[in-house]
Amino acid sequence: MEWTVKTLRLKSFAKINLGLEVLGLRSDGYHELRTLFQTIDLYDDVVLRPRPRGITVRCDHPQVPTDGSNLAVRAAEALARHARVRRGVEIAITKRIPVAAGLGGGSSNAAAVLLGLDHLWGVGLGPAGLHPLARRLGADVPFFLLGGTALGLARGDEVYPLWRQVRARAVVVDPGRPVSTAAVFRRVDQSLTPRENGYTIFRFVSRYLEGEGGFNALSNDLEDAALSEAPDLRAAVGRIRGILEGEGCSLASLSGSGSSFFGLFDEARKAGRARKALAAAGFRAFGCRTLSLESYRRAWFRSLGRE
Ligand code: C5P
Repeated sequence: MEWTVKTLRLKSFAKINLGLEVLGLRSDGYHELRTLFQTIDLYDDVVLRPRPRGITVRCDHPQVPTDGSNLAVRAAEALARHARVRRGVEIAITKRIPVAAGLGGGSSNAAAVLLGLDHLWGVGLGPAGLHPLARRLGADVPFFLLGGTALGLARGDEVYPLWRQVRARAVVVDPGRPVSTAAVFRRVDQSLTPRENGYTIFRFVSRYLEGEGGFNALSNDLEDAALSEAPDLRAAVGRIRGILEGEGCSLASLSGSGSSFFGLFDEARKAGRARKALAAAGFRAFGCRTLSLESYRRAWFRSLGRE
């Protein structure tokens, strides 16, 4: 077989949850969710260098493991096993997405590795064929095979893109305090009344698809549990929310299980002012744009063209 060494340089984007409802505990130990995912243009670099044998990872962030527990390594191993590929890869990750912050960084890196190696190794499963592998790696991984604005059901791993994509500015604040997702979900159980279904997000989506706004109807059911898990964040979150709302955001919310917090803005000017005000108050704030399904796909194809 002809052996051509190509290097793939991928952008691995972050997500925010515009809304999140927890309905109850499932028999598999996970929680039944209704969530609205949104990719943003904050990204990590993931570089894939083909090697004859062995799967390794390097990362510039001290909190990211570089052994077999790294989700990107597990993604590569899962695809190699599934497709009976006996080649190796060296994965290099440069982190910009805050770690353990509810922004899906690790899941996004894993999805980038699946999509990248599917191409590099000539497996050809594509996003739909990779879905079963992605959902075994983590509940948020399938969303990153598609990106954009999408409804997430079940464990968050049943993903439905919206035909009207959210176009807005987001200001994301990283309080620099990692929070364990599993611990937040365990805490949510203490105050959870199980329900058959949740309608806040469905109602928002149907109205949104008819051309209305109404982001302020959305919220995150994990917020109280996250702040009980990390009570030291309560005062900071109050200040962050105050600044975002003071600058006229259409939604201020925790992302995922936290601890990052974001504001959504319909005008770049307001978002810029909020980012500056947060930075002046000593917070690490990122100014971002939402990334639509189409932009996500375009970024992906551009990466493949740069082989
Ligand atoms: O799937 P992932 O490993 O990203 O999830 C991290 C943890 O979050 C899980 O171990 C589980 O405790 C919790 N979780 C949950 N229900 C979901 C998603 C995640 O309980 N739908």
